[in-house]
Amino acid sequence: MNFLSLIESKREGKILAGGEIQNFVREFTAGTIPDYQMAAMLMAIYFRGLATAETTALTLAMRDSGDVLKFPKDQRPLVDKHSTGGIGDKVSLPLAPLLACLGFRVPMISGRGLGITGGTLDKLDSIPGFQTLLPAEKIIAQVQKIGCVICGQTDRMVPADKKIYGLRDASGTVPSIPLITASILSKKLAESLDALVLDVKFGCAAFMQTKADARKLAKAMVALGNECGVNTRAILTDMNTPLGRAAGNWLEVKESVALLDRRTGVAPVSSLKAELQNRNMETGRMPVLRCDDLCALVLDCAAHLLVQTGKSTSFAAAHKLAKDCLNSGEPRKKWDEMLVAQGADLNAFNQKLALDHTAVVVVELRAEKSGYVSKCDARIVGEVIRDLGGGRLTKESSINYEVGIDQMAKPGERVEKSATLCRVHAADSNQAKAAIARLKAAFEISAKRPGKIPLLAEIIQ
Ligand code: URA
Repeated sequence: MNFLSLIESKREGKILAGGEIQNFVREFTAGTIPDYQMAAMLMAIYFRGLATAETTALTLAMRDSGDVLKFPKDQRPLVDKHSTGGIGDKVSLPLAPLLACLGFRVPMISGRGLGITGGTLDKLDSIPGFQTLLPAEKIIAQVQKIGCVICGQTDRMVPADKKIYGLRDASGTVPSIPLITASILSKKLAESLDALVLDVKFGCAAFMQTKADARKLAKAMVALGNECGVNTRAILTDMNTPLGRAAGNWLEVKESVALLDRRTGVAPVSSLKAELQNRNMETGRMPVLRCDDLCALVLDCAAHLLVQTGKSTSFAAAHKLAKDCLNSGEPRKKWDEMLVAQGADLNAFNQKLALDHTAVVVVELRAEKSGYVSKCDARIVGEVIRDLGGGRLTKESSINYEVGIDQMAKPGERVEKSATLCRVHAADSNQAKAAIARLKAAFEISAKRPGKIPLLAEIIQ
């Protein structure tokens, strides 16, 4: 293969044949194409884009660069959810056991966080003994036996993506819709799914900052997923505000378990009266564990998958089924089953869960005046957590799982002067103090109640 001539063709905006794409993905993965040439190809793709057929060929070639999970035939559909990532986005944790209880098989292959965006595997690593790196045979066996697994990609799955992503990171070619589409879907297709729901986030803390860009990415992924035989839908959700009330690895596990325990409010906040009834009269705040946005998103993802796989005939019926299942407490038991299957020490986990905090220092940020929370800036929250040690600046950085922010006040809530706006969990008091100073800019309090910003903006199918 003359790879130089393929680079030149793409540089001139020509369409590459499927076979040519397959060949260069195979040769690059095998190490016979040097990084500098592949980086040039990626830059050509970045500027020229890829036609639909080229993106399909690239995705399938990447999927086939390694092992594809092969599950035995079974009545239970294989499903998964992928999120483009955000602050406090812990949906995967409660969703996997919920889906397993709804009669799905869920081979949830997840990733680590980088920069301000958290990663599901990092959250799970905060659980004593929990193993996130499993061989393919164990992944398949666990999914067959208990219905769900959340783990990392094995070394032998989609190796082309690992190599290409590393090069994109180093060559300024990450923000390319065809390259993102191929990267995400090659990994999901290697799970041999029947249905997939994509949570494409937009906003100040999202990969895609505008709704228009998120829509473009979602449409490309939905079209490709469906073309490759996986029933695929996307939801566009707001990531200007953190999801839930906690962000930071262990704190997010805690919030997820609270949701599975149904210690959170179930019903959406539908009226001011309902809100007032729930308010803690001393602090003026809603009970700290109430996080309707997280619950709503978990139920929505489950409901879409129920409809996509024909298990429910309407979204309303699917939503009720998912909510009843969550309320039954079975997903909470399934969570424990998953933890045990993946090596967690359940006693140590429960003891850790019972603690108010596991970081060395906890400091509260208090409201300087009474009013309505009109902003809680997810980007600032994410940056503060990263700098507390909860996120990675480089792939090699180690993480402090215990730090983060919880009890966050949410936009639309009323707070009285000196009520808690959030708590900072830090490794020492200097870091806590610095975080509090920066977080003051994250929260805005206004005299007028702000209009409600919907979490879910659009469904793409
Ligand atoms: N996540 C991925 O897995 N790949 C990308 O290219 C971007 C986000």
